Amino acid sequence: MRIIGLLLLSCSLCMSCMQADKKKALIEDDFLVAEQHLSNQLKAVPEPTVYPRTTGKDGQLIATPKNDWTEGFYPGCLWYIYEHNREESWKQSAVKWTEALEPMKKLTSHHDIGFLIYCSFGNGYRLTGKEEYKDVIIEAANSLTTRFSEVTGCIKSWNYRKAWNGKDEWFYPVIIDNMMNLELLYFASKVTGDTRYAKIATTHAETTAKNQLREDYSNYHVVDYDTLTGKVLHQATCQGFSDNSAWARGQAWAVYGYTACFRETNDSIFLNFAKDIADMIMDRVKTDDAIPYWDYDAPVTKETPRDVSAASVTASAMIELSTMVPDGQKYLDYAEKILKSLSSDAYLAKVGDNQGFILMHSVGSLPNGSEIDTPLNYADYYYLEALKRFMDLKGINYKDI
Ligand code: GLY
Repeated sequence: MRIIGLLLLSCSLCMSCMQADKKKALIEDDFLVAEQHLSNQLKAVPEPTVYPRTTGKDGQLIATPKNDWTEGFYPGCLWYIYEHNREESWKQSAVKWTEALEPMKKLTSHHDIGFLIYCSFGNGYRLTGKEEYKDVIIEAANSLTTRFSEVTGCIKSWNYRKAWNGKDEWFYPVIIDNMMNLELLYFASKVTGDTRYAKIATTHAETTAKNQLREDYSNYHVVDYDTLTGKVLHQATCQGFSDNSAWARGQAWAVYGYTACFRETNDSIFLNFAKDIADMIMDRVKTDDAIPYWDYDAPVTKETPRDVSAASVTASAMIELSTMVPDGQKYLDYAEKILKSLSSDAYLAKVGDNQGFILMHSVGSLPNGSEIDTPLNYADYYYLEALKRFMDLKGINYKDI
């Protein structure tokens, strides 16, 4: 009996070893493909004057100036490749594309400084420990705090502007994406010991939960506030199907943002938001492969585009969330399902195609007719981050392969 028991145990250990080996090999392949794509992109855009973001109508590469919002993702991808292969040339590229973004630490004209600086210098600091990078991040956090108001209790995303419907005016617009800036502030508090940054981040997350999350834990894309009273003036979803719909990337930013807030504060209120948003996403996804349509409420036809960027942000968030709760396996399984889909021919571009972007089939802003069913550099960034998080969680060490 004992011998049979031992045989069964060793068989099942063997099976799980084989499965782990298969996963290692799959992730290794994904990184290899990513490395080849990015290597082509570095050849196409050799100097960091503009940053690759997507492709245009004729399939040409589109790169944007440093003060847009997506530029930090490009060096972020380079850092993830370097972290994986530890090759000096990749480090040099990551350093070059990161350091060229330094002037953006002073940016106070919109809120996207978190994406710009934390995805670039944040990863750079994590991997090199360079003191100068830390100082850049602190200065960026100072710039971001200039956009916080005690009256509204949140950070203004955009300055006063006409709403996207061309009729309303927005005085203090806050978009759900702003949850992604908070890591920058928490980092600044940790390294300076000044709790002011973290307090602003936490207040922003609380205000957003109150005014931007709906009862079913989906969210509005934009909430506009009265600057004098802090009263909510407008709630809209301009990048989604309708004001009351669940725009896929907006849901992804929210689950990622609240997961990060729980990591940084240990406040279970944020964990509960993250879980509720994650459950809502899993409940509402209509596709078999877990890559959502661009909006969870969009009418589905053969033409309805998927949004791979929403999928990769969600996967990365859910891998982290899975480590925070006792029933985390369901989040990990969902993230793994997303990663498997993204790593298939349906979404992972062939080397030489897709202008050096790793993934196909994202959506920037469908209502604006912009970046529909194109690659996007942030889809690539969160895909690499998710692969890395998955690998860390499973104890997969590439150098063992
Ligand atoms: N942060 C802009 C977007 O998600 O499209």
